[in-house]
Amino acid sequence: MDKLIINGGNRLSGTVPISGAKNSALTLLPCALLTEEPLTLRNLPRLADIDGFQHLMNQFGVSTGIQGNRPEDFGRVMTLEASRITSNVAPYDLVRRMRASILVLGPLLARTGEATVSLPGGCAIGNRPIDLHLKALEAFGAEIEMAAGYVKAVAPGGVLPGGNFDFPVVSVGATENALMAAVLAKGTCRLGGAAREPEIVDLCNLLAAMGARIEGIGSSELTIHGVKRLHGATYSVMPDRIEAGSYACAAAITGGEVLLEGAKAGDMGATLHALRNMGVTVSEEPGGVRVAADGALKPVNLTTAPYPGLATDMQAQLMSLLTRAEGASVLTETIFENRYMHVPELTRMGADISVSGRTAVVRGPARLTGAAVMATDLRASMSLIIAALAAAGTSEVRRIYHLDRGYERLEEKLQVVGADITRVGDE
Ligand code: UD1
Repeated sequence: MDKLIINGGNRLSGTVPISGAKNSALTLLPCALLTEEPLTLRNLPRLADIDGFQHLMNQFGVSTGIQGNRPEDFGRVMTLEASRITSNVAPYDLVRRMRASILVLGPLLARTGEATVSLPGGCAIGNRPIDLHLKALEAFGAEIEMAAGYVKAVAPGGVLPGGNFDFPVVSVGATENALMAAVLAKGTCRLGGAAREPEIVDLCNLLAAMGARIEGIGSSELTIHGVKRLHGATYSVMPDRIEAGSYACAAAITGGEVLLEGAKAGDMGATLHALRNMGVTVSEEPGGVRVAADGALKPVNLTTAPYPGLATDMQAQLMSLLTRAEGASVLTETIFENRYMHVPELTRMGADISVSGRTAVVRGPARLTGAAVMATDLRASMSLIIAALAAAGTSEVRRIYHLDRGYERLEEKLQVVGADITRVGDE
């Protein structure tokens, strides 16, 4: 398996192009199931998870074609056509490798009146149930059955009648599944307490471009008036706010200055607020967002929360940056109960972090030193890279298949702004 070798200490400077958002792409792709006409998605990031999702779509009889596949291009264009759906079963082998597969449940049910999806297995960042996905679909009139590790959802008479559902906790995935199921309902579906992450807005905008009737886009109260059919569309995936935030942390920890090209400050409010409070200069420019760090970093207290709060997907990267701040910072993770797996690895690099339940106290400034490290999830892996960029000496980051799932051409983007990072095959 490949690993990344990083010699820390270089100041990052220049421009990092921001790719299309992984978390948005993975909810836009299943929308192809909702229409027999072609759906063309632009600015799709080149990531292992996108390839995996394409494979899953092929399984249902969806044809897929890719343009812009030259190695030197960032992003790709994919056209998906579900003129006929030949299977409405998502098998265990595909779902187990990619949690986002659960997002086919809603659209398959809406289009064919029935869907069978393997239950996603355990996950490194804590127990991740799907009960709210199922409850929302039930509220819209689906009948749900569980057997042999699969969930089967059926719309009696082939079409969901509609209904109301109030989320007891904010769930991004369940909001997405419910939206995709609702657009083809016979009547009206109402969601209260819905997630309003920018990726949900991206999903609503695509569905609207396909002919869906959705009120309240961007708010937590969504009303979806079902339509008989949706049509094809061409749509560009939003820029990845988490990738942009990750490179902002990378630049800041090296005392550098980078332009996050194409990033949208409006989607990154809580992250940019945290960076500013740490003493990082953040400016919005026509081409993107510029971050510059040239003095001591200040400690801050941060709590993850559903949007517009601080994204749980930024917690690990900000923690790495805070190891270099002058004083104690307190981080509280409210979304997942087990999302501090990067802490022991950061500690091995010299960080002073103590964890108690959902709270982590980071005492800085730590003198980070290079080490061989590995992480068990995507954002944790990125946090190790950020620490390695500022560490004295050489670090080896292993198990980088996580990074390939979520960061398009990571080492190239970092090399261009001056990082000493190389990928080598493991013997
Ligand atoms: C979550 C994050 C999202 C992040 C993604 C990957 C939030 C609100 N969601 O999305 O920002 O990009 O992880 O790291 O920040 N839950 C249930 N039952 C369900 C579904 C969820 O109890 O059926 C709970 C979860 O255990 C969790 C919370 O709701 O505590 C939010 O989960 P959810 O938003 O659904 O997770 P993802 O969609 O994976």
